[in-house]
Amino acid sequence: MTTRATPATSVTEPDISADARPQRDGNGQRPSPNPLREGLRLDRMPEPCTMIIIGATGDLTLRKLGPALYNLMLGGFLPGEFSVVGFARREMTDDQFRDHLLEGINEYSRNRPVNAAVWDSFAQGVAYHRGEFHDPAAYQELAKRLDRLDRDRGTSGNRLFYLAVPPTLYPEIVKQLGAAGLTASGEERPEGTKRGWSRVIVEKPFGFDLVSAGKLNREINQVFDESQVYRIDHYLGKETVQNLAVFRFGNGLFEPIWNRRYIDSVQITVAETVGVEGRGEFYDQTGALRDIVQNHGLQLLTVFAMEPPVEFKAQDLRDEKVKVLRAVKPMTRSDVAANVVRGQYVSGWVEGEKVHAYRDEPEVAPDSQTETFVAMKVAIDSWRWAGVPFYIRTGKTLATRATEISVQFKRAPLALFARAGTPAIDPNILAIRIQPDEGILLRFGAKVPGQGLQIRSVNMDFRYGSSFAVDSPDAYETLLLDAMIGDPSLFTRGDEVERAWEILEPVLKAWAGGEGGALHFYAGGTWGPPAADELLERDGRQWRRP
Ligand code: BG6
Repeated sequence: MTTRATPATSVTEPDISADARPQRDGNGQRPSPNPLREGLRLDRMPEPCTMIIIGATGDLTLRKLGPALYNLMLGGFLPGEFSVVGFARREMTDDQFRDHLLEGINEYSRNRPVNAAVWDSFAQGVAYHRGEFHDPAAYQELAKRLDRLDRDRGTSGNRLFYLAVPPTLYPEIVKQLGAAGLTASGEERPEGTKRGWSRVIVEKPFGFDLVSAGKLNREINQVFDESQVYRIDHYLGKETVQNLAVFRFGNGLFEPIWNRRYIDSVQITVAETVGVEGRGEFYDQTGALRDIVQNHGLQLLTVFAMEPPVEFKAQDLRDEKVKVLRAVKPMTRSDVAANVVRGQYVSGWVEGEKVHAYRDEPEVAPDSQTETFVAMKVAIDSWRWAGVPFYIRTGKTLATRATEISVQFKRAPLALFARAGTPAIDPNILAIRIQPDEGILLRFGAKVPGQGLQIRSVNMDFRYGSSFAVDSPDAYETLLLDAMIGDPSLFTRGDEVERAWEILEPVLKAWAGGEGGALHFYAGGTWGPPAADELLERDGRQWRRP
């Protein structure tokens, strides 16, 4: 990401050749942007709707939501009637809000420079509504404005609310939406016509622990039916995460070996080179376990480990993911010290740049005990996975930015070549690279050419970038489109989110009670504290360096 400011008005001449737009087939359907979607559901243009971004002046809109909507428009995935209403406290005109969105698109969109014709048509549907989040009148005014939009732009009463506000505001906002009558669920009227639908997208973090997540679920479900609630975990929108399902269930080759008989262990790594990026206050109350493991880490685990669903439909998929979480063996508080390592970065060098210690970050307590690194060992007590350890690690200011799932296979039953004096072959590895450099790597032993018998590990490497000449959409594009279409497959269900908290509850409690092992310090730019390596060494294994 560049930090260079680009003028809000920077647009280029349009390139609206028909070839640049997705073609429709004979039924008016657009071709599917990725193969998994074909299995999940037919690709459809969403019905006309309005997306209301609550907390629209924040960073999320600038960096993610605005660019995602623009790219969906550019790709031809949004109907012409599509409208956006920004709702926030700041005084702003419609034009100023449009400029604000354009600024973000200029800076962060994956397609740049901005296409003037697409932007113009998009901007016509953009409006801003100022109001206080706890003021009932602000929501009544919003409701009137949305009704006008329905009439003027034909958005048919369909509303997608996006809560881009601090989580403490979720209950209040949801309550106010309910009081203003903004929660219609698209039901049929007695005379047979349909009312518009309302859906709500809730950003993470969803709760702070098991109790608060349960409370939040109840508060939201008092107003919105579960089928209207879309809890976002943007990792599920990442192309490679979706491809994991295709890889497993679309090929005959891998699923038969995807179990305890062939797999020795699994490592899930979410490594970041960035620090807390100006979010010190939020992060210091959150920490890596809540920020990454509870959601992204456990979601990767479920997609990797789930049983094949009966159908590629939201309910079946989510049922299978919940089953994985239910099978995760609960830790006792006394297990925590042995199975979980927590760390915090001190100063160091990341990719040639000096980083300050976490405790020196703005708005972080000088004696903070918050973890910026976690490594943990998890067991899944299921028929398929009994006895296979899953190691999850995540950290800020690590040596490399890399998210991957790496599978270590069991060795061949007989060390045939070792008998002939050749050193043992390294275990076979399958690494699913989620980002960057998306792809799949298979590592196996091969004979070094020449006389004698020498064996070396080699790689078979599939790279998205070189195999497909198309750019992957950003996760937010995929997820926003799904929510507009009404497909919750890639969103987290209420019981799923609570179970994820339940798994981590003993860890949070142990740490809060001063148990659960020491906080280990690690220099920025390393792979975390040595204790994380020891966690695997004790089991005779080591972390793969992505
Ligand atoms: C967010 C976390 O959910 O994910 C951030 O709050 C983290 O702390 C980010 O940096 C990582 O997302 P990505 O897509 O950059 O891997």
